Amino acid sequence: MMFESLSAEDTMALGEKIGRQLKAGDVLLLFGELGAGKTTLTQGIARGLGVAKEEYVRSPTFTLVNQYRGRFPVFHIDLYRIGSARELEDLGMEEVLAGDGVAIVEWAEKLFSDSATQNPLPEIERWIEIHIKIEAEDSRKITLKGHNLESSSHPVFTLH
Ligand SMILES: Nc1ncnc2c1ncn2[C@@H]1O[C@H](COP(=O)(O)OP(=O)(O)OP(=O)(O)O)[C@@H](O)[C@H]1O
Ligand SMILES: [Mg+2]
Repeated sequence: MMFESLSAEDTMALGEKIGRQLKAGDVLLLFGELGAGKTTLTQGIARGLGVAKEEYVRSPTFTLVNQYRGRFPVFHIDLYRIGSARELEDLGMEEVLAGDGVAIVEWAEKLFSDSATQNPLPEIERWIEIHIKIEAEDSRKITLKGHNLESSSHPVFTLH
């Protein structure tokens, strides 16, 4: 499914709608170039997951993962600085990703950069991919799709 966003506020509002539909154990992989709006969308998703407004959601810079308290634990992971999927294994991210919280991963491209690794997330069978494409300065095309996840089997795909 595809959405058109014309502003950062639009993207945040979409994120909030997405967040409201998420369930414990969901893994969201975010794809998109620098400045596409992955963090902006994550801020909305966190709101939708019930993370308090006072909690400042921004990309984890020095740590790989930030944790917020919402309806479930929310793990915000940014792989920008990671070298390869193999490095990720060393960091034990699988535990975070396979937990009872919701995991949101920026720069998910990095998970797929290791040709030696066939399934980047061996512990995880299904996830939701969100691709953000910069169309113009303020315009973004945002696509959602399930991986091993029938569109009919997750409430996030009932958004419109
Ligand atoms: N429609 C839009 N949706 C989201 N952000 C937008 C939009 N239009 C303009 N912007 C601007 O684009 C920037 C997006 O920044 P953001 O940090 O969310 O991107 P990012 O994908 O997380 O980047 P990075 O790769 O550095 O982590 C912000 O400055 C935001 O105001
Ligand atoms: Mg970011």
